Amino acid sequence: MYDWLNALPKAELHLHLEGSLEPELLFALAERNKIALPWQDVDSLRSAYAFNNLQEFLDLYYQGANVLRTEQDFYDLTWAYLLKCKEQNVIHVEPFFDPQTHTDRGIAFEVVLRGIKQALRDGQSKLGISHGLILSFLRHLSEEAAFATLAEAMPFRDDFIAVGLDSSELGHPPSKFQRVFAKARSEGLLAVAHAGEEGPPEYIWQALDLLKVQRIDHGVRAIEDERLMQRIIDEQIPLTVCPLSNTKLCVFDDMAQHNILDMLERGVKVTVNSDDPAYFGGYVGENFAALYDSLKMSKEQALRLAQNSLDARLA
Ligand code: ADE
Ligand code: ZN
Repeated sequence: MYDWLNALPKAELHLHLEGSLEPELLFALAERNKIALPWQDVDSLRSAYAFNNLQEFLDLYYQGANVLRTEQDFYDLTWAYLLKCKEQNVIHVEPFFDPQTHTDRGIAFEVVLRGIKQALRDGQSKLGISHGLILSFLRHLSEEAAFATLAEAMPFRDDFIAVGLDSSELGHPPSKFQRVFAKARSEGLLAVAHAGEEGPPEYIWQALDLLKVQRIDHGVRAIEDERLMQRIIDEQIPLTVCPLSNTKLCVFDDMAQHNILDMLERGVKVTVNSDDPAYFGGYVGENFAALYDSLKMSKEQALRLAQNSLDARLA
């Protein structure tokens, strides 16, 4: 079954490039850039990957991203991710990057973008993996800061397909970013947003009605609101679900409690994704394997999940 799952052609639609920074590469980049780290070695860093909630993870994720300094660093990060995709027959990717995580540290927007885009182009030409890049705003920062980031991005408009919304969800509802999303859409960009990971179903309604998103990232709490479920099913709004992430961040107590297959059986267009694979224990392949191990996912269900990921592409 594992080989069969691995060979299934699939797309990954919910992946934070900064979250694919493996501890080994993190240490190598720290050495290359002469940055002192608070961890002794790779093993002690890995042992810090135990989280009770999203914020505990984000604190470490932003700390890890500090080793990314040069265009080559962003290239190496993205290329390492694409090599993993190749191993697992992920044939199309729509990754997020968080420009503010870098520009706020004094790294130029173009440095980040050039490194990522060059690797994605090489992924297309050398590995046969197609892509669409998503610029994600940090929701714990202001809407004004998001507007400034969008303005910085506009000279490179054709390098993106969409804007997204990530970081600390609770207390930062989609409504806070209604105007900047309208501006992005007026530039012809599509939209996605994290909603219903830790936040309530109301945040999913807002993402749909105020931000006018094409997909919901996570969205697992939709199941608490029957009217919302009906809409998501009727309109076939894709949810980019991340099973290992949800268990590592205690959205579900354990994988056996995860609702992805219940949603699938109810007709929701759910997809399987890795979110931050370096931190959560695996890439798309490991996420599919976990659904087989803990939820007895059938081959027929896996086929539908993989097909959903190909159907829910924006690029
Ligand atoms: N940034 C990186 N991973 C994230 C997640 N799972 N939720 C919100 N923001 C994130
Ligand atoms: Zn995410």
